[in-house]
Amino acid sequence: DKGNHRHFMAKEIYEQPEVIAHTFGHYLDLTRETVTLPDLPFDLAEIDHISITACGTALFAGSIAEYWFERFARLPVSTDIASEFRYRDTPLGKNGITIVISQSGETADTLASLRYARECGQKTVAVVNVPTSTIAREADMVLPTLAGPEIGVASTKAFTCQLATLACLAVHTGRVRGVLSEDDEHRLVRAMMEVPRLMTEALKLSPEIEALARTLSKARDVLYLGRGTNYPLALEGALKLKEISYIHAEGYAAGELKHGPIALIDETMPVVVIAPFDRIFEKTVSNMEEVAARGGRIILVTDQRGADLAHVEAMQKLILPEMPATVTPMVYALPVQLIAYHTAVLMGTDVDQPRNLAKSVTVE
Ligand code: F6R
Repeated sequence: DKGNHRHFMAKEIYEQPEVIAHTFGHYLDLTRETVTLPDLPFDLAEIDHISITACGTALFAGSIAEYWFERFARLPVSTDIASEFRYRDTPLGKNGITIVISQSGETADTLASLRYARECGQKTVAVVNVPTSTIAREADMVLPTLAGPEIGVASTKAFTCQLATLACLAVHTGRVRGVLSEDDEHRLVRAMMEVPRLMTEALKLSPEIEALARTLSKARDVLYLGRGTNYPLALEGALKLKEISYIHAEGYAAGELKHGPIALIDETMPVVVIAPFDRIFEKTVSNMEEVAARGGRIILVTDQRGADLAHVEAMQKLILPEMPATVTPMVYALPVQLIAYHTAVLMGTDVDQPRNLAKSVTVE
């Protein structure tokens, strides 16, 4: 049932404030402002490495979580494409754990990676949306994402609920390892509790994004740029646009622009820059100046401080509320999804069932 939405994808985008509140409700003690995880089959204080593996959108959730585990828990993390991880003879030490992330819990390469990690003697954690799935059954521990059934082939609410779950695990790991103080935990939990409200605000950008989609639907290629956790979100934005609108898109770390992709930029190339104001915002402003100098059209997704500082030609701005850096990828995911959605609707594609794609990839 699509409710009053035209597509399942739209319904699932709009459900996010509610489902993410549900996921956080499962992993947070809202009164004590703490993270409450079930007992783990290993001691987080003793591990020395985390391997994260997944495919597609779930992989990008893992890449964002890598920044969190490194920052909050000072743990080295390697994030890997499941189809590479499983065939590479990756050395996995005895004191490491492997986290696999999968909406369906049936993705063949992700399942094979999980089995490989177990054969190497690692403890495994599965972040899955389907609790009865094969991956959920075979992992040592399951952290459900509680997004509810996702029908649209393009993953939306499962992605943000994966982020919510991984953020809780990262904060908990930071506490157990003594990197985060009790106050840090309270502060981060309060930030996470704001996410549903911030998402509701972000959804109000929909009419503006619908207008922008007219420009995007005429483009042959679109570039997405971001730094920090918004770099994997740029990759996710490009994936979403390609898969449902069939417009070619690339995501890049903003700092890599001058190492190649800048050669692509001309008046026909929209560049979506995902950049809330932060300590390296000025670096992103210089990247935008480089784009503008070559006639590129910029769509800047930012907050008011960012918008005030970015004085660049040919720019459209999507302005979100200010929020703590940790939660930006969850909230900024919504305009990024809406950009792909509205563009695809204008292109007249089959948004919920894009060509050549299956919801669950059970073959290699
Ligand atoms: C993109 C998308 C895919 C999946 C990928 C992994 O919108 O849906 O890239 O994220 O096929 O699927 P799961 O999460 O089921 O393992």
